[in-house]
Amino acid sequence: MRPKIITGFLILLFIFTAVFCTRSPDSSKGIKQVEEQTNQVSPKSVETWLAPDTSTIPDTKEGDLIRYGRKLITNTSEYLGPRGSVAHTSNGMNCQNCHLNAGTKSFSNNFALVASGYPKFRPRSGRVETIEFRVNDCLQRSLNGHAIDSLSKEMRAYVAYFKWIGKDVKEGDKITDAAVEKLPFLDRAADPEKGKALYIAKCKVCHGSKGQGLLRPDSVTFTYPPVWGKESYNIGAGMHRLSHLAGFIKNNMPFGSTVQNPQLSDVEAWDIAAYISSQPRPLKDVRMDWPDMASKPFDHPFGPYSNRFTEEQHKYGPFGPIKQANEKLKAAGKQAK
Ligand code: HEC
Ligand code: HEC
Repeated sequence: MRPKIITGFLILLFIFTAVFCTRSPDSSKGIKQVEEQTNQVSPKSVETWLAPDTSTIPDTKEGDLIRYGRKLITNTSEYLGPRGSVAHTSNGMNCQNCHLNAGTKSFSNNFALVASGYPKFRPRSGRVETIEFRVNDCLQRSLNGHAIDSLSKEMRAYVAYFKWIGKDVKEGDKITDAAVEKLPFLDRAADPEKGKALYIAKCKVCHGSKGQGLLRPDSVTFTYPPVWGKESYNIGAGMHRLSHLAGFIKNNMPFGSTVQNPQLSDVEAWDIAAYISSQPRPLKDVRMDWPDMASKPFDHPFGPYSNRFTEEQHKYGPFGPIKQANEKLKAAGKQAK
């Protein structure tokens, strides 16, 4: 009897180890290769990132700062919003509204590459940006508010959180799902009219018929954040660029959608994005953005441009011809140098 039990046990152990060890060879590094079904036609290889588990945040003073930084991402408005307990420097939105699951979700502007990627040169400001500069950028644009001091406890907490969450990522690591998916361009301009009908059918229930969202009963923040109107992000925010908005919507909305389980086609995502972007939102002086005009992205809706396309086409597309013209100009510029 005994040897049989032992053999049986060994076989089970063998199967268990074999299955377990072949599941995700690289997950110990926090990065793994997975086959994602991003659209119905062809499966695509995505290099995804697994954020460290919050239960591993150390029980130290530094750990407390990291935990505070995480709260400032998930519940920003409770601290910095119009009724915030620390300061009133932002609208009622939270960082997490666009950086889902505290900035850990695939294809939703996650924070995988922040710690290893900054300081870095960004063409929008035309300068080398620190993490602090980048945080203030989102505070001033995405949260339509004001910058906070680099030495404030809040900024130190943001930085501590980004450093902790990105600690296993090295510069040059390939992670392809950090930003949002780059959707294939349409041959036509994205259509706000088509988008409106889709918005009413699929988004209005949470974000409201005027895009106003739904305030939480205590009025401190939103249960469903505003997608346009005076309490939403301003025209200088990254989300006001159609490719960012459409890419975000495709794999994250209606709420609960994922890259494995999207609920919209690419075309629907572009058209809904066009409708949202056609609606009013707070202004911001963006004349100093992209000081090198030639580096303005194909979907930045504010001129002047170094190409012949209109603001209207830069806002809604078709983007293919703009991108081609920009690349030609870049190549010519390089030759001239
Ligand atoms: C309205 C949506 C929105 C909100 C709210 C928002 N962000 Fe962002 N954030 C974005 C988008 C979109 C990008 C990337 C696009 C770009 O480069 O402009 C981004 C980029 C970033 C980056 C750089 C990521 C990288 O890998 O380079 C950081 C850091 C960041 N945000 C921090 C914050 C913080 C902190 C808050 C809250 C104070 C916040 N964001 C709120 C939309 C938002
Ligand atoms: C079931 C409710 C629900 C539905 C339906 C829904 N959303 Fe959202 N949406 C949310 C929530 C909640 C967030 C914020 C997520 C967070 O903070 O974790 C959000 C965030 C957003 C954001 C980023 C933040 C902002 O305010 O701009 C956009 C853009 C957005 N949704 C667009 C859409 C679009 C477009 C649709 C329809 C295709 C849609 N949503 C459908 C609940 C919903």
